[in-house]
Formats: sequence, C-alpha cells, structure tokens
Amino acid sequence: MHVTIFGTGYVGLVSGTCLAEVGHDVVCVDIDQRKIDGLEAGVIPIYEPGLEPMVRANHAAGRLKFTTDAAAAIAASEVVFIAVGTPPDEDGSADLQYVLAVARTIGRHLQAPAIVVDKSTVPVGTADKVRDAIAAELAARGVDIAFDVVSNPEFLKEGAAVEDCMRPDRIVLGTSSPASIERLRRLYAPFNRNHDRIVAMDVRSAELTKYAANAMLATKISFMNEIAGIAEKVGADIEQVRKGIGSDPRIGWHFIYPGAGYGGSCFPKDVQALARTAVQHGHEPTLLDAVESVNDRQKRHLFELAVRHYGGAAALRGKTIALWGLAFKPNTDDMREASSRRLVQQLWDAGARVRAYDPEAREEARRIFGDRDDLVLCDSAGDALQGADALVVITEWKQFRSPDFAQIRARLGDGVLFDGRNLYEPADVEAAGIAYWGIGRGRSI
Ligand code: UGA
Repeated sequence: MHVTIFGTGYVGLVSGTCLAEVGHDVVCVDIDQRKIDGLEAGVIPIYEPGLEPMVRANHAAGRLKFTTDAAAAIAASEVVFIAVGTPPDEDGSADLQYVLAVARTIGRHLQAPAIVVDKSTVPVGTADKVRDAIAAELAARGVDIAFDVVSNPEFLKEGAAVEDCMRPDRIVLGTSSPASIERLRRLYAPFNRNHDRIVAMDVRSAELTKYAANAMLATKISFMNEIAGIAEKVGADIEQVRKGIGSDPRIGWHFIYPGAGYGGSCFPKDVQALARTAVQHGHEPTLLDAVESVNDRQKRHLFELAVRHYGGAAALRGKTIALWGLAFKPNTDDMREASSRRLVQQLWDAGARVRAYDPEAREEARRIFGDRDDLVLCDSAGDALQGADALVVITEWKQFRSPDFAQIRARLGDGVLFDGRNLYEPADVEAAGIAYWGIGRGRSI
C-alpha cells in the first residue's frame, strides 16, 4: 500500500521503516530539510539498535523515501500517518500545534479518499480536532473528499523500537468505520500473522488507552520507589521485597525496579498530560499527581544519599563525582527528562565537579550542558574514575554490571559508591572496602 508518514522522530521513522520493511511504499515527510537530506544520505538522527541498516536497505530498495514535499506525498497515499511531536505546554497539557498543522496540510492537499491515522500520543478528543481541521481546509477548497481519522497509538520502547514495531503485542485501532478497520487490517497483516493482535475500539477509548498504558507503567515504578523509601527507613531491602512480590502473576516481574526515577520523552509528559485532561474534565487525578510527585522526589534521592554520606551538602564543595550513565535508560542516547540531569545540576549547585561517562549520550550531553569547567565527558568508565572521590551509577548499561570493585576502590578518593539502579550486591562492594548506598536497601540507613 502507499503510505505517507508525517514526522521523522522516533515514532515516525521507526514505524515508516518497519512498514517499508514488510513491503509497503512509504514516504516520510518532515519540515526539517536538513534532517530529510541527512536521511536521504543514510544519516539516522537517533541511536536505535537495528534501525540504521533497515533504513538504508529499504531506502536502497526504493520502498522508503524522505521528502519535505507534503503535497506530492499526500496525493499519492491511501493512508496518511501523523507522527509528529506533542511536547508539553506550560501547564503540562499536550501541545497540539504540530499535529493540527499537519492536519491542515492534509486538508489542503488531499486528492482522493484516504485514512488519516493518528500515531502521535494525543489527548482524548484530538481525532475530532484533526477531523475538523481537515474538513475546514477541504471546505475552503470547495471539494468533498471522503476521509476517516483513526487513532492508532504506538507502544514502542526506545532502545527496542524496531523489535517492538516489528512484533507488536497489540495494534489498537480507534474508529467507528468498519471499512477503515479492514483497510488497516490489510496494512498491518504482515505484523499480525500468528494470532490476531488487532484491538478495535472507538476513537476516544483508543486515545485514552495510550495514556492509560504509560500511566500504569509509571505508577508501578513510583509505587516501587515509594516502597523503597519505606524499606530504607525500616531497615528492609527493597530487592528482597521485589523478589517477594514479583512472583505473584497478578503483580508480575516487569516495571517493578526501583531506581533514580523514570525519565524519557513519554512517562513524565504523558502522566502530566493525562492529569491535565482529567482536571479539564472535572476529575481530580489524585493518583496521577502522586505518581508524579513521587518521581520528582526520587530524582533528588541520589543527591540526598550523598548529602547523608558526607554529613551535609557543604562537604560536597570541591569534590569530584564520577557518573556512570547519562541517558534516561540504557541503549539510547536520549537524555530527555533523564534523572542524571537533575543530579548533575544538584552537584554543581553544591560546588562539586562531575566526570561523566555514557556509552552513547556523550554528544547529547555536550549539546545540553555545553562546555564547562566543572564537567568532563569521559571516554570510558575507567576514565571517569580518574581523580574522582565518589562514584554514582545512574543508568544501568550492561557494561556497568560487573565492574572490578578492587580497581574502583584504588581510584576513588573517598571510596563510596551510590548505586542509583541497584545493580550491585552491597556485600560485594563493601568487600572491596567501598561504602555502598543503594535505593531502598535498609542496610544503608
Ligand atoms: C515508554 C513505554 O514503555 C512504551 O510502551 C511507550 O510506547 C513509550 O513510553 C511511548 O509512549 O512512546 P520509553 O519511554 O522508551 O517507553 O521507556 P521505558 O523503557 O518505558 O522506561 C521509562 C523510564 O522508566 C526509564 O527512565 C527507566 O529507567 C524507568 N524504569 C523502568 C524504572 O525506573 N523502573 C522500571 O522497573 C522500569
């Protein structure tokens, strides 16, 4: 089928590439000419495992094209995806200006009946606004062309985006049109082979499904961080508690890892946006507000542990802190809402210097932080330890999982490790003569 995708960010680029991979003709449209030129030349703007070879192969095969020419792309497509960003507005609600600008563009250039598919994460009711925006443009042109707006949220995870997209656990389609479902069923047939993953529903339920999924996952994390806080106070070990509850299939093993707080471009934004939607419709989002405030507290927790260890923030002045990890999670260079950013700022405010190493996020960190005397972006985990007093692990990259603690001890002036993702056994660290502080490990009272 002929498909156009607006937006070449994570969702648009990955979805477009995967649709081309299964044989569809895909045109990706973006207003950023430099990005489009780069993509045409095989330069992938994000780090995502497996994406680059797939983009290049499909581009070479002629099934995946990149352009800024929206008019030509729309005219040639049966299905038009909207996958542009919905950044938070000042009040936390999702800013729809990019989504609606694309809708108007579609209305201006539509030549034949088409399905418009909303893949961006958008508040309930957006499909109606998209429909109105397209209809207004068609009316201004004095033409009557049939179209349907379908909500088809994306559930891919950064770092596993290609895998998630090629093997989705569900394909949510929100529309009241059986004909649209049938067309999209054909589009997604290659991803839907062994058992039917299509979940068809009305458009508002589909829009809410996306927020409910992310809010539920964020809730699990904040819940565990809350329990970790209690464990720390009562002298229990959250890691034992995690194992004790995860075996209950109703609770499950996933997303119950306490840590330095959740980050990324989705959870913080989506929890806030859903809370805004609730307020706008007269519902008090008590739980969502708590999920967010627990996360906010959690992002400050590693610094508080450091203050506790050193007996006050003043003692951090002049210290050099090694940081392992900057990205909001492993296998990505994305630092949006990363817990590392809050910690680095707190350390600077206290007069400490930072030596940081991240396997992928170095350039992103340089872009965000700029050149400063109190930050060194290092080439390796070992390099970050040079001349450092303490080590903080904040992103659980695989390569940080089994370090040589004796070597770490030899390099760290103060011999203290803050484990923001509970990667290590306290006893292993302490056996090397290093003081250990983790998240919710009562031993660290
Ligand atoms: C998230 C969802 O997992 C995807 O299903 C969704 O499609 C996506 O948002 C989106 O809305 O586009 P992502 O933001 O890539 O995906 O990241 P996650 O893997 O979900 O991790 C989010 C954060 O939670 C990370 O900072 C991670 O460190 C943290 N986390 C995760 C924990 O602190 N504990 C856990 O047990 C799991």
